[in-house]
Parts: sequence; structure tokens; C-alpha cells
Amino acid sequence: MLKIKHASAEDFSTIMIDPKLRSFLEKHFSTLPAFLHALLPNQVARFWESVQARSLPEWERLIQVLSPSSNRNLDTLSWEEPLCWSIERLSQKGLSPSSLQRIGEAAFQNGEVAFLTVAGGLGTRLGFLGPKGLVPVTPLQQKTLFQVFAEKLQALQKRYHHPFHWLIMTSLQTDAATRKAFQEHHWYDPHYLHFFQQGTLPAFSTENALLVDENGQIAEFPDGHGGVFQALQKAQLLPFLQQEGIRTLSYFQVDNPLVHLDDALFLGVHLQQASDFSTKVVEKICTEEQVGLFAQINQQLQLVEYSEFPPAYVSARNSKGTLRYRWGNTAIHLLSMDFVQTCAKQPLPYHVCRKKVSAWDPALQNKQVMEGHKIEQFIFDVLPQARHPLLWEVQREEEFSPVKNATGTDTLLTCQNDQIQRWLRWLKKTDPSWFASQNNPLLPAFEISPLFADNETDFFHAWKCLAQKPHSLQGWYAHES
Ligand code: UD1
Repeated sequence: MLKIKHASAEDFSTIMIDPKLRSFLEKHFSTLPAFLHALLPNQVARFWESVQARSLPEWERLIQVLSPSSNRNLDTLSWEEPLCWSIERLSQKGLSPSSLQRIGEAAFQNGEVAFLTVAGGLGTRLGFLGPKGLVPVTPLQQKTLFQVFAEKLQALQKRYHHPFHWLIMTSLQTDAATRKAFQEHHWYDPHYLHFFQQGTLPAFSTENALLVDENGQIAEFPDGHGGVFQALQKAQLLPFLQQEGIRTLSYFQVDNPLVHLDDALFLGVHLQQASDFSTKVVEKICTEEQVGLFAQINQQLQLVEYSEFPPAYVSARNSKGTLRYRWGNTAIHLLSMDFVQTCAKQPLPYHVCRKKVSAWDPALQNKQVMEGHKIEQFIFDVLPQARHPLLWEVQREEEFSPVKNATGTDTLLTCQNDQIQRWLRWLKKTDPSWFASQNNPLLPAFEISPLFADNETDFFHAWKCLAQKPHSLQGWYAHES
């Protein structure tokens, strides 16, 4: 063991450096000696402490994924168009949507479903500094994404007369601000709200050199939504959910306020087919759309991220002339609890994601935001191990409008327009004559709370019961029904 002086003012203890780990890192990071030379003595000590928080095999795994040879050679595998379920397919198979719906309703009624939001991401791409869940997203009331989801779950509680557990995965970057916002705004009953924090993994420069923070510690970032299984395990939530009789986890991302959580039919199909992993999909708008796509690869249903999709298959068409790989991932999944337990026991593959990172620049002696290589795990990498996984087609305009970018597609503006257009469609179908009486040359700014209605059928009933219809849509806010 080599010893180095811990040079921080408050602590002069020595730390031991494992020579095997040191020589391994020196072999793989040729610039390491010069890099260490540029750090301050106390940063060097912290650097080695943080390096040794991971074992040699863990470092080996990380270095391996950075190597270009680790890229999956997807082109050489056998690719087929995946099968997708829809209402039409149910009828073709002789399955009755209403009886499947009842299976789903019974599972909700019996309290067998818990909800899980992955909310480890920041709103950086939107130019918002805090957790993405705190982005004000609704067109009139400026409700945050978290508040919208909370109201959806309260509406579900009203229907089934009992509360539902809601698990929110935060990260190092989002945990404190998320908890504080929920405490301040009382969006959800704290007895049924469970925050748990995902793990971290080191990030590297775009040249794959090590990065440190201002203390000299290895710069670490959230380990991707695939970290959810380990994080649930670590937070002791798996035995808790089992004890509560939860059989299905309803998983969704923090960025889509259109997510339809009260979907008994989807749940019924998932349960009836004994699926471990079911996903709602939408048909891709254009070949360039940045959504992960499903394919049957080597006879297994798999999801390939848009950044990793082989160009040769992007525009491949079937005999009917439609895109073979057109089913885009909405990241709305149902997972069987038994499967979640299995997934928590095994490591997930690592992916290298080019994203913004903030790290210490030893030359400039300050923190810089730069492009880097983050290492992430993806939840959908467990798909090949899932029993009877299935895809379920949904209407994009009813269920999917994520907020991702400051400009271009999937912005706050496109999402607010999509929310309004969805409510306008419900209104037009429910009360065509009232709708026609409205003269709205511009898109009116109004809002319908999920507590009033969160789908067309419920809207129909809520509108009929409304004693006084609004005079104008502009500025109208429909809340509790
Ligand atoms: C994601 C999907 C893509 C899908 C699209 C639908 C991935 C890799 N890709 O793309 O297949 O078509 O959504 O909108 O997921 N998150 C964490 N912790 C992390 C990283 C992410 O909780 O460490 C959460 C984010 O808060 C967000 C979600 O995961 O809720 C998606 O992450 P993001 O990196 O924004 O994925 P997209 O590129 O939008």
C-alpha cells in the first residue's frame, strides 16, 4: 500500500492507496499523473478516497464501457417488426375490452397498484435550474408537473375510495428541492408518498479522462433511470411494497403531464397476458423523432435508444409500406412486482451518454460546465428477461406530450398547446352546440384539473353535471367536479 499525506487543514491523517487499483487507473488514464500534479494537495487526498469508494472490478466495468469495442453490434443480429397490441387486436384475439377493463379495475380497487415516477433529472435542457418536476407546466394555473401527477392520483383515490402509494425517485441533484416543494405545497398525503434516491456513477470527459469536482472527488452523476431497481432495494421499499400487497408498479417519467394513470384497460391487458413489462407506445411522427424504438431482436422484444439505433433500420419499411420500427417509447410502463424483485438482484448494462457535466478544471482552477460522457443504466434493458412483455398502442394526442427542450420540439409551449387541444377535443365531442357557440379565433388559455376530469369519458359526465357552463373558455379553470 502506498501512503499519501492528507493535506486538508483539518485532517492530516494518511490514506492508503491500493497499488493494484492505482496501476490499473494509470494504465487506462495516461494523463493521470499530470492531472494529479495540477490538483491541490487536499484535492489529491480526496481524489484517492473517492476512487477507492469503488472496487477494482467496478472500475474495470466502467473502463470497459468507455471502449469503442463495447458497443453492441446490433446490425449483425436478426431484426423483426415487433408486435403491438391495440383495441383492434383484442377483438381479433376474441378478448373483450370490457372484461379486461374490469380486471384492471379490480386490481386498482384491491390496492394492488403503486405508482412510480423517475424524477432524478434537472430541467437543464429547458433552461430551468431546479428538478424538472418543479417546472410550471399547465397553461393557466402554472401547476408544476408534480402537482399535476398528484391531482391525477387524487382523482384515482376518489374513484376507488382509497389512497395509492406514490414512489418518487430523486437524485443527488433533485432530492432536497423536491422534498422541500412537497412539504411546502402539500401536494400529496405524506403517508403515501415515498421518496428514494438513486445512485451515482462517475462521468468522464469526451476524451474519456477522469473528472473531479471542486473538492478533488471523482465527479459523479445520477446513474440513469435503470438505477431504480437498486435504489428501491437500498431504500427497503421492495419488502414494504410486498407487505402492502402491491403486485404492479405503474412507472412514468417526470416530463409528461398527459400521462393517463387511471388506465384500467391497459392494466387489465398487462395482467391478463401475465406480462412482466408492458409499455405504452405511440407511432413515430417522423424518422428523426428522438424516441427510443422497439424491435424484435434475436426473437426478444427490445428497446433501442434513438442515439444507438442502426441507421440502416431507421427507415426500413414492411410489405404494407409502413415503417417497420415505428413504435416509439413513451416511457410509461407497467412492471410486475415479482420481476422488479428479480431485476434488483442483477446489474444492468452501462451506456455512455454525451451530456453536459460540471467539473473542476485544474488548469483554470475553477468549475466549468462542459460536454462529457455520463454513464447511465436504462430501465428498458431488463426487457429481454421479462416474461410476455407487450406493447400497447395509445393515441399520442391523448397521452404523450413530454417537456424536454427550450426550443423546437417538445417544449413548454408545444406541451401547453397539446393540453389545450386535448381539452378542446373533449369539449367539442361532449357539447358540440355549446362549442360552436364559442367564437375563439385564437387558442384560448383555460385549464381543466385532473380532479375535474382526466379523460374524455369522465369529462362528459363532469360537464353534464356542471350547473353553470362557462361564458367563455378564455380564463376558465375547471377544478373539483
Ligand atoms: C427518454 C427515453 C426514450 C423515450 C423518451 C420519451 C431514455 C434513455 N430514453 O428519452 O426512449 O422515447 O424518454 O419521452 O430514457 N431520469 C432519472 N435519473 C437519471 C436519468 C433520467 O430519474 O439518472 C429520469 C428523468 O428525470 C426523466 C426520465 O428519466 O423523467 C427520462 O430521462 P431523459 O434522459 O430525459 O430521457 P430522454 O432523452 O428524454
